[in-house]
Amino acid sequence: MRIGFFDSGIGGLSVLYEALRQLPHEDYLYYADDANVPYGNKSREDIRCCVIEAVDFLAGMDIAALVVACNTATSAAIQDIRRKYRFPVIGMEPAVKPAVKSVDGKRVLVFATPLTLRESKFMVLLNQVDIHNTVDYLPLQELVTFAESCQFDRTVILTYLKERLKDYDLNRYGAVVLGCTHFPFFKNHIREFFPKGTVIVDGNRGTICNLKNTLTSMGRIHEGSGQVTYYRSGKRVVDDFTMERYLQRMRQIEEGGMF
Ligand code: DGL
Repeated sequence: MRIGFFDSGIGGLSVLYEALRQLPHEDYLYYADDANVPYGNKSREDIRCCVIEAVDFLAGMDIAALVVACNTATSAAIQDIRRKYRFPVIGMEPAVKPAVKSVDGKRVLVFATPLTLRESKFMVLLNQVDIHNTVDYLPLQELVTFAESCQFDRTVILTYLKERLKDYDLNRYGAVVLGCTHFPFFKNHIREFFPKGTVIVDGNRGTICNLKNTLTSMGRIHEGSGQVTYYRSGKRVVDDFTMERYLQRMRQIEEGGMF
């Protein structure tokens, strides 16, 4: 049986990359909701509808487990998904916990979509973890649009980031959290703004560790050969152009987020 991966678009490929690294002997179905991307500036209700439609499709393919490789979809709809389906569902949340642990008296800056940052799930997380009020957060929705349109031009990205970060004293930060799965594609662009030694964390490794533990406890590990079948809003991807674009994004993650 295969493992379903779901994202609004190509962001989840950064998580799938980690899955292929840690769990190369599984088969995967990757679903990008291209017809509805981006999610981050939609309402929670609209996102729920999109997510349920996508997960219904994957459920019909008889998956062993589902990875919601999208912080925004997790924030808006994880409870609805868990209620509706019987397979295990692994969601994502901004990696604030490890970030707070890693900074020594410095601050933490979380980047995510507007939806993720305003949902109660994030507020609950901050209440649990941000005991000393050291966490700041900022939405960077435009990075999703850039990634979806393959806009990785250094000048364009740095200009956008410079404008968004202009009110922050970046020397105060010891860690940056990439709380959206599209953001690891811009890891090196982001790194340029912060002092040397600033830790940049995403939730990908932790998410795939959860998947690994889940499959192990189900006794369902090592059931495939690393094969991935891609879907764009319910249509199977067969053209070489899209396939190559997806592989390029995964190579980009391997190379540290710079293209
Ligand atoms: N990749 C998604 C996330 O992790 C959502 C991006 C979007 O569609 O706005 O939040």
